[in-house]
Amino acid sequence: MILSSNKQIDEARQGEALITKGQGTRKLFLESYGCAMNFSDSEIVASILDGAGYSTTRNFEEADLILVNTCAIRDNAEQRVRGRLRDFNAVKKKNPGLIIGVLGCMAERLKSNLLEEEKIVDLVVGPDAYRDLPNLLQTVGEGHKAVNVLLSREETYADISPVRLDTNGVTAFISIMRGCDNMCSFCVVPYTRGRERSRDPESITQEARELFEKGYREVTLLGQNVDSYLWNSGKAKKEMSEEEKQSGFTFAMLLEKVAGVSPDLRVRFSTSNPKDMLDDVLHAIAKHENICKYIHLPVQSGNTAMLERMNRGYSREFYMDRIAAIHRIVPEAAISTDIITGFCGETDEEFKDTLRVMEDVRYDFAYMFFYSERPGTYAQKKYSDDIPEELKKSRLAEVIKLQQKHSAERVREGLGKIHRVLVERVSKRSEEMMSGRNSQNTVVVFPRGELKIGDYVNVLATECTLATLIGKVV
Ligand code: 5AD
Ligand code: SF4
Repeated sequence: MILSSNKQIDEARQGEALITKGQGTRKLFLESYGCAMNFSDSEIVASILDGAGYSTTRNFEEADLILVNTCAIRDNAEQRVRGRLRDFNAVKKKNPGLIIGVLGCMAERLKSNLLEEEKIVDLVVGPDAYRDLPNLLQTVGEGHKAVNVLLSREETYADISPVRLDTNGVTAFISIMRGCDNMCSFCVVPYTRGRERSRDPESITQEARELFEKGYREVTLLGQNVDSYLWNSGKAKKEMSEEEKQSGFTFAMLLEKVAGVSPDLRVRFSTSNPKDMLDDVLHAIAKHENICKYIHLPVQSGNTAMLERMNRGYSREFYMDRIAAIHRIVPEAAISTDIITGFCGETDEEFKDTLRVMEDVRYDFAYMFFYSERPGTYAQKKYSDDIPEELKKSRLAEVIKLQQKHSAERVREGLGKIHRVLVERVSKRSEEMMSGRNSQNTVVVFPRGELKIGDYVNVLATECTLATLIGKVV
């Protein structure tokens, strides 16, 4: 089993806008895979295409345009997309005017090969080229195939107001930066999403303000490595002088600025990289009630030699020092992680170190994967993918078993306490119950009463399941 992360939203989602802005005559079916960043990008794509006369539909059989926003992080993510493209091809046989396009990380990785390989694809567009979609669609309309996979050093789509897809009207993602400069040896992202660049803090805060005014009560600030966020007059970090870096606007400052929009707007963020998470961010979290006490701090492995092969930029000791800093500065924070089993050359001892870190931290939650070699990465070029698949999987099963125990214990620790919860939806199990999350990101379920989505309530937790607290409003 592979547990997918909130970054790796498991189910593909078909985005339909709650309120379609324009009165588009053509129908767009947009399906997204992968991380939250991809889902956030799809909202930008919907906005760009809204301006070009497309409105979204949930039924791909009535679509004029089908776009799949893809993920390339593991081989199985790509295989799922290939399967979906075959389904869409069947529709195209009945409706030859239908345009099918691939967006996102797989588009970037495979480029024009996708057009040749998958004969049904008309359009291939990488993550930095979405503004070009209307032009590219025109080219396709004239009977040609179209590709734009240029990566940019500047594009942040800062001026585009996303069309919120599949929204509950209360929680939304805001992309604060794009790309990644980390070069973890296993990871395809630096190749598919290009260089790291930060978005203007003013436009981020403005987006948060507008969301709050529309009734949203929680924003999640998204970036591949949020702690590395740095804004100084639009320059890429790598091009800043030391002085410009010193006087730049940091992630800790951004957190405080967004938290200042309203005490009733919750702020979450993802993902933190241990090597860049400094105490200033932790102090910002501690200082503001509305910055959620939840930190996703991927460890990947608990062994220093392995971390070096992964090129993560920290040792086991450094990571544990960051965990200690969280306990010291934000003692009530929940901590989650990402773990990879069976990376190149992983010995039994190295693997046991990962289990030891898990025992030491007792994560609230984890996203766990076995290693999947990605073409073009440093690991693929330099190391042998030498751990047999059964061993990768049996180690993963061990990690999952331990994590399930820790997660259940962590949830149980919430019993008998009062949790401030943002009401997000009617519970899936019962119409009579509502559900939301506490600051630590644990799902809490409680009787519906007169409550509305978007309210805050205090819930005394009286019962729990493995992953959910159940209680009464107090
Ligand atoms: N194989 C398996 N897992 C991977 N991840 C990234 N690249 C790979 C890979 N090649 C995992 C990491 C990362 C998460 C988003 O996906 O744990 O933090
Ligand atoms: Fe997101 Fe990485 Fe997948 Fe791209 S490859 S969609 S960045 S998880």
